[in-house]
Amino acid sequence: MTKRTLLLIGSGGREHALAWRLRQSPSVGRLLAVPGNAGIAEEAECRDLDPMDFDAVVALARAEKVDLVVVGPEGPLAGGIVDRLEAEGIAAFGPTAAAARLESSKAFTKDLCKAENIPTADYARFGDAAAAKAYLERARPPYVLKADGLAAGKGVVIAADLPEARAAVDALMGGAFGGAGAEIVIEEHLEGEEASLFALVDGKDLALLPSAQDHKRAFDGDKGPNTGGMGAYSPAPVMTRARLAEAEARILRPTVEAMARRGTPFRGVLYAGLMITAEGPKLIEYNVRFGDPEAQVLMMRLAGDLVPALLAAREGRLAGTDLAFDERPAITVVMAARGYPGAYEKGSVIAGLEGLAGTPGVKVFHAGTARREGALVAHGGRVLNVTALGGDLAEARKRAYDAAERIDWAQGFYRRDIGWRALGRD
Ligand code: AMP
Ligand code: GLY
Repeated sequence: MTKRTLLLIGSGGREHALAWRLRQSPSVGRLLAVPGNAGIAEEAECRDLDPMDFDAVVALARAEKVDLVVVGPEGPLAGGIVDRLEAEGIAAFGPTAAAARLESSKAFTKDLCKAENIPTADYARFGDAAAAKAYLERARPPYVLKADGLAAGKGVVIAADLPEARAAVDALMGGAFGGAGAEIVIEEHLEGEEASLFALVDGKDLALLPSAQDHKRAFDGDKGPNTGGMGAYSPAPVMTRARLAEAEARILRPTVEAMARRGTPFRGVLYAGLMITAEGPKLIEYNVRFGDPEAQVLMMRLAGDLVPALLAAREGRLAGTDLAFDERPAITVVMAARGYPGAYEKGSVIAGLEGLAGTPGVKVFHAGTARREGALVAHGGRVLNVTALGGDLAEARKRAYDAAERIDWAQGFYRRDIGWRALGRD
Protein backbone atom coordinates (compact mmCIF):
# COMPACT_ATOMS: atom_id res chain seq x y z
CA MET A 1 0.00 0.00 0.00
CA THR A 2 1.31 3.46 -0.86
CA LYS A 3 1.62 5.46 2.29
CA ARG A 4 0.10 8.91 2.30
CA THR A 5 1.20 12.14 3.92
CA LEU A 6 -1.68 13.95 5.63
CA LEU A 7 -1.89 17.46 7.02
CA LEU A 8 -4.39 18.23 9.77
CA ILE A 9 -5.46 21.83 10.41
CA GLY A 10 -6.42 22.84 13.95
CA SER A 11 -5.29 22.84 17.56
CA GLY A 12 -8.15 21.61 19.76
CA GLY A 13 -9.38 18.41 21.36
CA ARG A 14 -11.32 17.65 18.18
CA GLU A 15 -8.08 17.72 16.21
CA HIS A 16 -6.24 15.57 18.76
CA ALA A 17 -8.99 12.95 18.45
CA LEU A 18 -8.80 13.16 14.65
CA ALA A 19 -4.99 12.98 14.70
CA TRP A 20 -5.10 9.91 16.93
CA ARG A 21 -7.41 8.08 14.50
CA LEU A 22 -5.71 9.31 11.32
CA ARG A 23 -2.38 8.09 12.72
CA GLN A 24 -3.86 4.61 13.17
CA SER A 25 -4.81 4.30 9.50
CA PRO A 26 -2.53 1.80 7.76
CA SER A 27 -2.54 4.12 4.73
CA VAL A 28 -0.96 7.03 6.60
CA GLY A 29 2.82 7.27 6.45
CA ARG A 30 3.27 10.78 7.84
CA LEU A 31 0.95 13.10 9.67
CA LEU A 32 1.61 16.84 9.94
CA ALA A 33 -0.45 19.32 11.95
CA VAL A 34 -0.86 23.11 11.82
CA PRO A 35 -0.49 24.34 14.50
CA GLY A 36 -1.41 21.38 16.76
CA ASN A 37 -0.94 21.22 20.54
CA ALA A 38 1.09 19.16 23.01
CA GLY A 39 -1.18 16.11 22.61
CA ILE A 40 -1.31 16.32 18.83
CA ALA A 41 2.51 16.46 18.91
CA GLU A 42 2.46 12.86 20.16
CA GLU A 43 0.71 11.81 16.93
CA ALA A 44 1.93 14.31 14.35
CA GLU A 45 4.75 16.67 13.36
CA CYS A 46 3.41 20.07 14.43
CA ARG A 47 4.28 23.23 12.51
CA ASP A 48 3.68 26.55 14.20
CA LEU A 49 1.86 28.31 11.37
CA ASP A 50 -1.38 30.30 11.40
CA PRO A 51 -4.14 28.17 9.81
CA MET A 52 -5.58 31.39 8.35
CA ASP A 53 -2.30 32.07 6.52
CA PHE A 54 -3.26 30.08 3.42
CA ASP A 55 -0.03 30.97 1.58
CA ALA A 56 1.95 29.33 4.38
CA VAL A 57 -0.32 26.26 4.46
CA VAL A 58 -0.05 25.83 0.68
CA ALA A 59 3.74 26.20 0.83
CA LEU A 60 3.97 23.56 3.57
CA ALA A 61 1.66 21.16 1.71
CA ARG A 62 3.80 21.57 -1.43
CA ALA A 63 7.12 21.18 0.34
CA GLU A 64 5.99 18.06 2.20
CA LYS A 65 4.09 16.58 -0.78
CA VAL A 66 0.90 16.34 1.26
CA ASP A 67 -1.69 13.96 -0.26
CA LEU A 68 -4.67 15.16 1.76
CA VAL A 69 -5.39 18.13 4.02
CA VAL A 70 -8.04 17.55 6.71
CA VAL A 71 -9.49 20.77 8.10
CA GLY A 72 -10.91 20.76 11.67
CA PRO A 73 -12.22 24.25 12.55
CA GLU A 74 -14.78 26.47 10.85
CA GLY A 75 -12.65 29.63 10.55
CA PRO A 76 -10.35 28.39 7.76
CA LEU A 77 -13.28 26.62 6.04
CA ALA A 78 -15.41 29.77 5.98
CA GLY A 79 -12.34 31.67 4.82
CA GLY A 80 -11.95 29.40 1.80
CA ILE A 81 -8.98 27.21 2.71
CA VAL A 82 -10.40 24.26 0.77
CA ASP A 83 -11.08 26.40 -2.32
CA ARG A 84 -7.50 27.64 -2.20
CA LEU A 85 -5.87 24.23 -1.64
CA GLU A 86 -7.91 22.52 -4.35
CA ALA A 87 -7.16 25.38 -6.79
CA GLU A 88 -3.47 24.72 -6.13
CA GLY A 89 -3.98 21.02 -6.89
CA ILE A 90 -3.79 19.93 -3.24
CA ALA A 91 -6.56 17.55 -2.13
CA ALA A 92 -8.50 18.79 0.89
CA PHE A 93 -11.34 17.37 2.98
CA GLY A 94 -13.98 19.92 3.96
CA PRO A 95 -16.49 22.27 2.35
CA THR A 96 -15.73 25.21 0.08
CA ALA A 97 -16.41 28.71 1.45
CA ALA A 98 -19.71 28.77 -0.48
CA ALA A 99 -20.83 25.49 1.11
CA ALA A 100 -19.50 26.57 4.52
CA ARG A 101 -22.14 29.33 4.49
CA LEU A 102 -24.37 26.74 6.14
CA GLU A 103 -22.40 27.65 9.27
CA SER A 104 -21.00 31.09 8.48
CA SER A 105 -24.41 32.68 7.81
CA LYS A 106 -27.40 31.81 9.96
CA ALA A 107 -29.61 33.92 7.68
CA PHE A 108 -28.45 31.90 4.65
CA THR A 109 -29.36 28.65 6.39
CA LYS A 110 -32.73 29.93 7.59
CA ASP A 111 -33.61 31.07 4.06
CA LEU A 112 -32.54 27.70 2.67
CA CYS A 113 -34.72 25.88 5.21
CA LYS A 114 -37.68 28.05 4.28
CA ALA A 115 -37.19 27.49 0.56
CA GLU A 116 -36.80 23.73 0.98
CA ASN A 117 -39.47 23.26 3.64
CA ILE A 118 -36.94 21.96 6.19
CA PRO A 119 -38.29 21.99 9.77
CA THR A 120 -36.73 24.80 11.81
CA ALA A 121 -37.83 27.66 14.11
CA ASP A 122 -39.78 30.48 12.43
CA TYR A 123 -37.59 33.56 12.00
CA ALA A 124 -37.08 37.04 10.64
CA ARG A 125 -33.86 38.75 9.45
CA PHE A 126 -32.83 42.31 10.32
CA GLY A 127 -30.06 44.63 9.18
CA ASP A 128 -31.45 47.48 11.22
CA ALA A 129 -31.80 47.72 15.02
CA ALA A 130 -35.00 49.80 15.00
CA ALA A 131 -36.81 47.31 12.78
CA ALA A 132 -35.60 44.42 14.97
CA LYS A 133 -36.94 46.14 18.10
CA ALA A 134 -40.27 46.88 16.44
CA TYR A 135 -40.56 43.19 15.55
CA LEU A 136 -39.83 42.19 19.17
CA GLU A 137 -42.89 44.19 20.29
CA ARG A 138 -45.06 41.76 18.34
CA ALA A 139 -43.12 38.58 19.23
CA ARG A 140 -43.48 36.45 22.35
CA PRO A 141 -40.86 35.60 24.99
CA PRO A 142 -38.45 33.94 25.37
CA TYR A 143 -36.78 35.76 22.49
CA VAL A 144 -33.99 34.05 20.54
CA LEU A 145 -31.56 36.46 18.88
CA LYS A 146 -28.53 35.48 16.80
CA ALA A 147 -25.69 37.27 15.06
CA ASP A 148 -25.69 36.20 11.42
CA GLY A 149 -21.99 35.37 11.16
CA LEU A 150 -19.37 33.29 12.98
CA ALA A 151 -19.12 34.33 16.64
CA ALA A 152 -17.36 31.36 18.29
CA GLY A 153 -20.60 30.16 19.87
CA LYS A 154 -21.16 33.52 21.58
CA GLY A 155 -23.53 35.09 19.06
CA VAL A 156 -26.77 33.64 20.47
CA VAL A 157 -28.86 35.32 23.17
CA ILE A 158 -32.00 33.86 24.68
CA ALA A 159 -33.76 36.78 26.36
CA ALA A 160 -36.51 36.26 28.94
CA ASP A 161 -38.19 39.66 28.54
CA LEU A 162 -38.41 42.66 26.23
CA PRO A 163 -35.81 44.92 27.89
CA GLU A 164 -33.27 42.09 27.79
CA ALA A 165 -34.14 41.34 24.16
CA ARG A 166 -33.75 45.00 23.16
CA ALA A 167 -30.39 45.13 24.92
CA ALA A 168 -29.38 42.00 23.00
CA VAL A 169 -30.19 43.71 19.69
CA ASP A 170 -27.84 46.54 20.65
CA ALA A 171 -25.16 44.17 21.90
CA LEU A 172 -25.25 41.95 18.80
CA MET A 173 -25.44 44.80 16.31
CA GLY A 174 -23.22 47.20 18.24
CA GLY A 175 -19.93 45.98 16.88
CA ALA A 176 -18.94 43.49 19.60
CA PHE A 177 -19.15 40.74 16.97
CA GLY A 178 -17.66 42.79 14.16
CA GLY A 179 -19.12 41.93 10.77
CA ALA A 180 -20.84 38.86 12.28
CA GLY A 181 -23.46 41.11 13.91
CA ALA A 182 -24.17 43.40 10.94
CA GLU A 183 -27.27 41.32 10.43
CA ILE A 184 -29.26 39.40 13.06
CA VAL A 185 -31.88 36.69 13.04
CA ILE A 186 -34.72 36.65 15.58
CA GLU A 187 -36.42 33.30 15.86
CA GLU A 188 -39.10 31.32 17.59
CA HIS A 189 -38.03 29.60 20.81
CA LEU A 190 -38.13 25.81 20.40
CA GLU A 191 -38.88 23.50 23.32
CA GLY A 192 -37.38 20.06 23.65
CA GLU A 193 -34.15 18.14 24.10
CA GLU A 194 -31.13 18.92 21.95
CA ALA A 195 -29.03 16.41 20.05
CA SER A 196 -26.30 16.56 17.44
CA LEU A 197 -26.28 14.53 14.27
CA PHE A 198 -23.27 14.15 12.00
CA ALA A 199 -22.98 13.00 8.42
CA LEU A 200 -20.16 12.56 5.96
CA VAL A 201 -21.29 14.23 2.75
CA ASP A 202 -19.80 13.82 -0.73
CA GLY A 203 -21.63 16.56 -2.64
CA LYS A 204 -24.71 14.47 -3.44
CA ASP A 205 -24.87 11.57 -1.02
CA LEU A 206 -24.41 11.22 2.71
CA ALA A 207 -23.52 8.63 5.33
CA LEU A 208 -24.87 9.19 8.84
CA LEU A 209 -22.40 8.98 11.71
CA PRO A 210 -23.55 8.23 15.27
CA SER A 211 -25.47 10.86 17.19
CA ALA A 212 -24.05 12.72 20.17
CA GLN A 213 -25.12 15.23 22.76
CA ASP A 214 -23.00 17.94 24.29
CA HIS A 215 -23.33 20.09 27.40
CA LYS A 216 -22.98 23.73 26.44
CA ARG A 217 -23.32 25.41 29.85
CA ALA A 218 -20.29 25.86 32.07
CA PHE A 219 -21.66 24.48 35.35
CA ASP A 220 -23.51 21.47 36.76
CA GLY A 221 -27.24 21.30 36.18
CA ASP A 222 -26.79 23.02 32.79
CA LYS A 223 -26.30 26.35 34.57
CA GLY A 224 -23.95 29.24 33.92
CA PRO A 225 -22.69 30.78 30.72
CA ASN A 226 -22.59 29.08 27.32
CA THR A 227 -19.28 27.51 26.36
CA GLY A 228 -17.90 25.65 23.38
CA GLY A 229 -18.99 22.45 25.16
CA MET A 230 -18.08 21.03 28.61
CA GLY A 231 -18.63 17.38 27.79
CA ALA A 232 -20.40 15.04 25.40
CA TYR A 233 -21.58 11.50 24.97
CA SER A 234 -22.52 9.26 22.09
CA PRO A 235 -24.98 7.91 21.16
CA ALA A 236 -27.70 10.36 22.26
CA PRO A 237 -30.56 8.11 23.44
CA VAL A 238 -33.07 10.81 22.42
CA MET A 239 -32.10 10.08 18.79
CA THR A 240 -34.15 6.94 18.36
CA ARG A 241 -34.02 5.06 15.08
CA ALA A 242 -37.24 6.74 13.95
CA ARG A 243 -35.94 10.24 14.77
CA LEU A 244 -32.64 9.53 13.02
CA ALA A 245 -34.53 8.48 9.90
CA GLU A 246 -36.79 11.51 10.09
CA ALA A 247 -33.90 13.95 10.57
CA GLU A 248 -32.02 12.38 7.67
CA ALA A 249 -35.02 12.46 5.32
CA ARG A 250 -36.46 15.86 6.26
CA ILE A 251 -33.38 17.87 7.22
CA LEU A 252 -30.02 16.50 6.04
CA ARG A 253 -30.93 15.06 2.63
CA PRO A 254 -32.96 18.07 1.44
CA THR A 255 -30.06 20.33 2.49
CA VAL A 256 -27.47 18.29 0.59
CA GLU A 257 -29.73 18.17 -2.47
CA ALA A 258 -30.42 21.91 -2.36
CA MET A 259 -26.72 22.76 -2.06
CA ALA A 260 -25.94 20.57 -5.09
CA ARG A 261 -28.80 22.05 -7.12
CA ARG A 262 -27.60 25.58 -6.34
CA GLY A 263 -24.13 24.81 -7.68
CA THR A 264 -22.45 24.84 -4.26
CA PRO A 265 -22.29 21.13 -3.39
CA PHE A 266 -21.39 20.34 0.20
CA ARG A 267 -18.47 18.00 0.85
CA GLY A 268 -17.21 17.31 4.33
CA VAL A 269 -18.84 16.77 7.70
CA LEU A 270 -22.28 18.27 8.10
CA TYR A 271 -23.23 18.66 11.75
CA ALA A 272 -26.88 19.36 12.49
CA GLY A 273 -27.76 20.81 15.89
CA LEU A 274 -31.31 19.58 16.44
CA MET A 275 -34.13 20.27 18.85
CA ILE A 276 -36.34 17.23 19.37
CA THR A 277 -39.69 18.96 19.67
CA ALA A 278 -43.17 17.51 20.15
CA GLU A 279 -43.50 17.82 16.37
CA GLY A 280 -40.28 15.94 15.71
CA PRO A 281 -36.67 17.01 15.07
CA LYS A 282 -36.14 20.63 13.99
CA LEU A 283 -32.89 22.21 12.87
CA ILE A 284 -31.36 24.72 15.31
CA GLU A 285 -28.21 25.30 13.31
CA TYR A 286 -25.68 23.73 11.00
CA ASN A 287 -21.96 23.45 11.50
CA VAL A 288 -19.73 22.40 8.63
CA ARG A 289 -17.20 20.33 10.59
CA PHE A 290 -16.97 17.85 13.41
CA GLY A 291 -18.20 19.13 16.78
CA ASP A 292 -15.83 19.80 19.62
CA PRO A 293 -16.09 17.87 22.01
CA GLU A 294 -18.46 15.60 20.04
CA ALA A 295 -15.65 14.46 17.73
CA GLN A 296 -13.81 13.10 20.76
CA VAL A 297 -16.60 10.64 21.56
CA LEU A 298 -17.18 9.76 17.90
CA MET A 299 -13.47 9.05 17.38
CA MET A 300 -13.42 7.00 20.60
CA ARG A 301 -16.20 4.83 19.12
CA LEU A 302 -14.77 4.66 15.60
CA ALA A 303 -13.86 1.10 14.67
CA GLY A 304 -13.16 1.53 10.94
CA ASP A 305 -10.48 3.38 8.99
CA LEU A 306 -11.25 7.09 8.76
CA VAL A 307 -8.98 7.88 5.81
CA PRO A 308 -10.78 5.95 3.03
CA ALA A 309 -14.09 7.44 4.21
CA LEU A 310 -12.72 11.00 4.07
CA LEU A 311 -11.27 10.36 0.61
CA ALA A 312 -14.56 8.87 -0.61
CA ALA A 313 -16.44 11.94 0.62
CA ARG A 314 -14.02 14.30 -1.10
CA GLU A 315 -14.17 12.32 -4.34
CA GLY A 316 -17.97 12.03 -4.51
CA ARG A 317 -18.08 8.26 -4.06
CA LEU A 318 -19.50 7.75 -0.58
CA ALA A 319 -22.11 5.25 -1.78
CA GLY A 320 -21.18 1.90 -0.34
CA THR A 321 -18.75 3.33 2.21
CA ASP A 322 -19.60 1.86 5.56
CA LEU A 323 -17.69 3.33 8.44
CA ALA A 324 -17.92 1.00 11.45
CA PHE A 325 -18.45 2.24 15.01
CA ASP A 326 -18.22 0.46 18.34
CA GLU A 327 -21.66 -0.29 19.78
CA ARG A 328 -20.45 0.79 23.19
CA PRO A 329 -21.19 4.34 24.30
CA ALA A 330 -18.47 6.90 24.94
CA ILE A 331 -18.33 9.98 27.11
CA THR A 332 -15.92 12.89 27.36
CA VAL A 333 -15.44 15.26 30.29
CA VAL A 334 -13.86 18.61 29.49
CA MET A 335 -11.34 19.94 32.00
CA ALA A 336 -11.23 23.71 31.65
CA ALA A 337 -9.14 26.47 33.18
CA ARG A 338 -10.81 28.22 36.14
CA GLY A 339 -12.57 31.31 34.79
CA TYR A 340 -13.48 29.80 31.40
CA PRO A 341 -15.51 30.84 29.40
CA GLY A 342 -14.50 34.24 30.84
CA ALA A 343 -10.93 35.32 31.52
CA TYR A 344 -8.52 32.57 32.59
CA GLU A 345 -4.80 32.17 33.09
CA LYS A 346 -2.42 30.20 30.93
CA GLY A 347 0.71 28.40 31.99
CA SER A 348 -0.36 26.33 35.03
CA VAL A 349 1.33 22.92 35.20
CA ILE A 350 -0.66 19.72 34.67
CA ALA A 351 0.61 16.41 36.06
CA GLY A 352 -0.57 12.83 36.29
CA LEU A 353 -1.32 12.09 32.65
CA GLU A 354 1.49 9.55 32.32
CA GLY A 355 -0.15 7.40 34.98
CA LEU A 356 -3.31 7.17 32.88
CA ALA A 357 -1.64 5.90 29.72
CA GLY A 358 -2.79 2.35 29.13
CA THR A 359 -5.91 2.59 31.34
CA PRO A 360 -8.40 0.36 29.50
CA GLY A 361 -11.08 2.26 27.62
CA VAL A 362 -9.69 5.68 28.58
CA LYS A 363 -8.02 8.28 26.38
CA VAL A 364 -7.15 11.84 27.35
CA PHE A 365 -7.26 14.23 24.42
CA HIS A 366 -5.51 17.57 24.68
CA ALA A 367 -7.55 20.64 23.81
CA GLY A 368 -5.42 23.58 24.98
CA THR A 369 -2.00 22.40 26.12
CA ALA A 370 1.62 23.23 25.43
CA ARG A 371 5.05 22.07 26.63
CA ARG A 372 7.22 24.49 28.60
CA GLU A 373 10.67 23.22 29.54
CA GLY A 374 9.39 19.67 29.41
CA ALA A 375 6.32 20.30 31.59
CA LEU A 376 2.77 20.08 30.29
CA VAL A 377 0.97 23.40 30.81
CA ALA A 378 -2.52 24.75 30.22
CA HIS A 379 -2.64 26.89 27.11
CA GLY A 380 -6.34 27.55 26.51
CA GLY A 381 -9.81 27.68 28.08
CA ARG A 382 -10.77 24.09 27.41
CA VAL A 383 -7.62 22.16 28.23
CA LEU A 384 -8.15 18.37 28.41
CA ASN A 385 -10.91 15.98 27.30
CA VAL A 386 -11.01 12.87 29.47
CA THR A 387 -12.73 10.34 27.24
CA ALA A 388 -13.89 6.80 27.99
CA LEU A 389 -15.76 3.87 26.46
CA GLY A 390 -17.90 1.59 28.59
CA GLY A 391 -20.24 -1.38 28.37
CA ASP A 392 -22.95 1.15 29.14
CA LEU A 393 -22.95 4.90 29.66
CA ALA A 394 -22.75 4.57 33.45
CA GLU A 395 -19.55 2.54 33.14
CA ALA A 396 -18.08 4.94 30.59
CA ARG A 397 -18.88 7.83 32.89
CA LYS A 398 -17.31 6.17 35.92
CA ARG A 399 -14.14 5.47 33.97
CA ALA A 400 -13.91 9.04 32.73
CA TYR A 401 -14.45 10.58 36.16
CA ASP A 402 -12.06 8.13 37.86
CA ALA A 403 -9.43 9.15 35.33
CA ALA A 404 -10.17 12.88 35.71
CA GLU A 405 -9.64 12.60 39.46
CA ARG A 406 -6.17 11.22 38.90
CA ILE A 407 -5.13 14.29 36.93
CA ASP A 408 -3.24 16.73 39.09
CA TRP A 409 -4.24 20.22 37.99
CA ALA A 410 -5.47 22.53 40.75
CA GLN A 411 -6.22 25.38 38.34
CA GLY A 412 -8.72 23.31 36.38
CA PHE A 413 -12.41 22.49 36.83
CA TYR A 414 -14.94 20.18 35.23
CA ARG A 415 -18.63 19.41 35.41
CA ARG A 416 -19.57 16.41 37.55
CA ASP A 417 -22.81 15.62 35.73
CA ILE A 418 -21.90 14.93 32.11
CA GLY A 419 -24.45 12.48 30.70
CA TRP A 420 -27.15 13.21 33.28
CA ARG A 421 -29.98 13.38 30.77
CA ALA A 422 -29.12 10.06 29.19
CA LEU A 423 -28.52 8.34 32.55
CA GLY A 424 -31.72 9.80 33.96
CA ARG A 425 -33.64 7.87 31.32
CA ASP A 426 -32.60 4.43 32.57
P1 AMP B 1 -26.64 27.88 18.15
O1 AMP B 1 -25.29 28.57 18.25
O2 AMP B 1 -27.51 28.36 17.05
O3 AMP B 1 -26.51 26.39 18.25
O4 AMP B 1 -27.35 28.23 19.52
C1 AMP B 1 -26.74 27.98 20.77
C2 AMP B 1 -27.72 27.37 21.70
O5 AMP B 1 -28.84 28.24 21.87
C3 AMP B 1 -28.34 26.08 21.18
O6 AMP B 1 -27.55 24.98 21.43
C4 AMP B 1 -29.65 26.05 21.94
O7 AMP B 1 -29.44 25.58 23.25
C5 AMP B 1 -30.03 27.48 22.02
N1 AMP B 1 -30.95 27.83 20.91
C6 AMP B 1 -30.61 28.31 19.70
N2 AMP B 1 -31.70 28.53 18.95
C7 AMP B 1 -32.77 28.17 19.70
C8 AMP B 1 -34.18 28.17 19.49
N3 AMP B 1 -34.73 28.60 18.35
N4 AMP B 1 -34.96 27.72 20.50
C9 AMP B 1 -34.43 27.31 21.67
N5 AMP B 1 -33.12 27.30 21.93
C10 AMP B 1 -32.28 27.72 20.96
N1 GLY C 1 -19.82 21.44 20.56
C1 GLY C 1 -20.33 22.49 19.77
C2 GLY C 1 -19.58 22.79 18.56
O1 GLY C 1 -18.64 22.12 18.19
O2 GLY C 1 -19.95 23.74 17.87
